[in-house]
Amino acid sequence: MGRCCFYAVGTLSLLLLVTSITLLVARVFQKAVDQTIEKNIVLRNGSETFDSWKKPPLPVYTQFYFFNVTNPEEILNGETPRLEEVGPYTYRELRNKDDIQFGDNGTTISAVSNKAYVFERDKSVGDPKIDLLRTLNIPALTAMEWTQLPLLRDIIEALLKAYRQKLFVTHTVDELLWGYKDEILSLINTFKHDISPYFGLFYGKNGTNDGDYVFLTGEDNYLNFSKIVEWNGKTSLDWWTADECNMINGTDGDTFHPLITRDEVLYVFPSDFCRSVYITFSDFESVQGLPALRYKVPAEILANTSDNAGFCIPKGNCLGSGVLNVSVCKNGAPIIMSFPHFYQADEKFVSAIGGMHPNKEYHETFVDINPLTGIILRAAKRFQINVYVRKLDDFIETGNIQTLVFPVMYINESVLIDKETASRLKSVINTTLIVTNIPYIIMALGVFFGLIFTWLACRGQGSTDEGTADERAPLIRT
Ligand SMILES: *[C@@H]1O[C@H](CO)[C@@H](O)[C@H](O)[C@H]1NC(C)=O
Ligand SMILES: *[C@@H]1O[C@H](CO)[C@@H](O)[C@H](O)[C@H]1NC(C)=O
Ligand SMILES: *[C@@H]1O[C@H](CO)[C@@H](O)[C@H](O)[C@H]1NC(C)=O
Ligand SMILES: *[C@@H]1O[C@H](CO)[C@@H](O)[C@H](O)[C@H]1NC(C)=O
Ligand SMILES: *[C@@H]1O[C@H](CO)[C@@H](O)[C@H](O)[C@H]1NC(C)=O
Ligand SMILES: *[C@@H]1O[C@H](CO)[C@@H](O)[C@H](O)[C@H]1NC(C)=O
Ligand SMILES: *[C@@H]1O[C@H](CO)[C@@H](O)[C@H](O)[C@H]1NC(C)=O
Ligand SMILES: *[C@@H]1O[C@H](CO)[C@@H](O)[C@H](O)[C@H]1NC(C)=O
Ligand SMILES: *[C@@H]1O[C@H](CO)[C@@H](O)[C@H](O)[C@H]1NC(C)=O
Repeated sequence: MGRCCFYAVGTLSLLLLVTSITLLVARVFQKAVDQTIEKNIVLRNGSETFDSWKKPPLPVYTQFYFFNVTNPEEILNGETPRLEEVGPYTYRELRNKDDIQFGDNGTTISAVSNKAYVFERDKSVGDPKIDLLRTLNIPALTAMEWTQLPLLRDIIEALLKAYRQKLFVTHTVDELLWGYKDEILSLINTFKHDISPYFGLFYGKNGTNDGDYVFLTGEDNYLNFSKIVEWNGKTSLDWWTADECNMINGTDGDTFHPLITRDEVLYVFPSDFCRSVYITFSDFESVQGLPALRYKVPAEILANTSDNAGFCIPKGNCLGSGVLNVSVCKNGAPIIMSFPHFYQADEKFVSAIGGMHPNKEYHETFVDINPLTGIILRAAKRFQINVYVRKLDDFIETGNIQTLVFPVMYINESVLIDKETASRLKSVINTTLIVTNIPYIIMALGVFFGLIFTWLACRGQGSTDEGTADERAPLIRT
């Protein structure tokens, strides 16, 4: 072999190694991939991102779990309630965005998110039209709260006294969720027409939306992708007593910006929770073979801390960790939000109710996000609706009931990427993986030629000087 060839191999090896290291240090391919992603994950008319934002392709299920009251008489005598969990009643969500309009040269987009619910019998424990549940009479309790306010106080009080309502009522699952005509609300409606005679936990929520949104499209900056800037014409809420608490932060939780890093804190505004929350990284997951970062709602969100003091209303009236008084955003109904079974709440709430078994696996809220694309691979949003009850001397139907945060129902809204979408996403991720690994491939070639060079060098030396047996052995032993 010629000397020329010998030096050519050496130079080639050196060149490849230097190139690969330069590429790695300058992150050329990484940057190219990142830029491509930042440019493509934008809400732009006709883009794939836009289409799947407009009509989310993955099936979302909402499961309702109710708490059936087993000892109503004893509760009225001041005993601990014993509740029995009944569920799931599963509905598939049909989602789509409507009234879409681009603004500000394509940097903002306004839309409403419609949701409809279709019952899935084979994923449920029973028929919601038949199954009966005993729970608190929420309309009556709400009317009792209204008597504390100046509005129509005397009329409502008189109505409640004349038409004495039972504190516990029995209705079908269907009525409790989608609405029934309530006697006391019907009477109030005749005086005050904007109060609906119907009550249901999800009354009026089938086929409707939760308000007008303005989002950022991500055109100006990928970090702003699908971030909410306005909800119902306002850039912040006015329910809470501190400005930070009233902020509308982050996305609606259905989409996240791409290129997520695990030290990021992601903000979400779920309108049914009446406030923004944040989620933090907890661990690495794999969903259908795709890499994911698991983000969770931390316990600090509902903790009794100075950061959350603005959520205590009236000011200074904190109920404790793990509960949120959302009465102010539910028409004055005494609704308290928590995680299911008072997960991450003060022990006093758990022990006050028989049948609460908080459990991390079943009751926490999490979302598994693919960090490269920001696409949700799996998620479960779980929260519980409770009613605040106490003995009111004016209303004998409250008996001798203890002051309680009384669970009525909890929801598990979950999504899981299907195999087909996962494999399409996998091919995208693999392509970027190959591109970002090009420097390593070049480096491997450099090392390969380096080995040939060394081998040639040793052999060249060997021809003048035999060397020991060990020196003549191959460089790489397998
Ligand atoms: C998107 O483009 C299509 C076709 O050009 C048009 O019909 C539609 O109105 C556009 N949508 C929006 C929201 O601008
Ligand atoms: C849209 O772009 C044009 C031209 O680039 C600019 O003059 C105008 O101010 C922009 N409008 C908004 C609302 O950003
Ligand atoms: C909700 O509306 C959809 C379509 O309008 C309908 O198919 C479905 O049965 C409704 N769900 C309930 C619970 O009424
Ligand atoms: C709930 O409790 C009531 C009263 O005990 C009972 O009649 C009903 O069957 C229970 N519902 C379910 C779904 O178990
Ligand atoms: C993101 O949006 C905010 C407005 O909500 C804007 O002030 C900011 O400049 C945007 N970020 C970037 C980097 O463009
Ligand atoms: C909204 O985000 C800001 C920081 O950007 C934070 O200080 C504030 O507490 C957040 N508010 C809520 C309700 O999450
Ligand atoms: C909330 O925290 C404050 C201050 O740490 C404490 O004084 C108060 O008792 C707590 N409230 C509840 C209901 O635990
Ligand atoms: C919940 O908030 C409302 C005000 O919106 C208040 O009237 C009520 O007393 C609060 N409930 C509790 C249990 O603190
Ligand atoms: C939803 O959560 C409940 C418990 O909170 C669990 O039993 C159920 O399997 C979950 N459903 C899905 C689809 O993850």
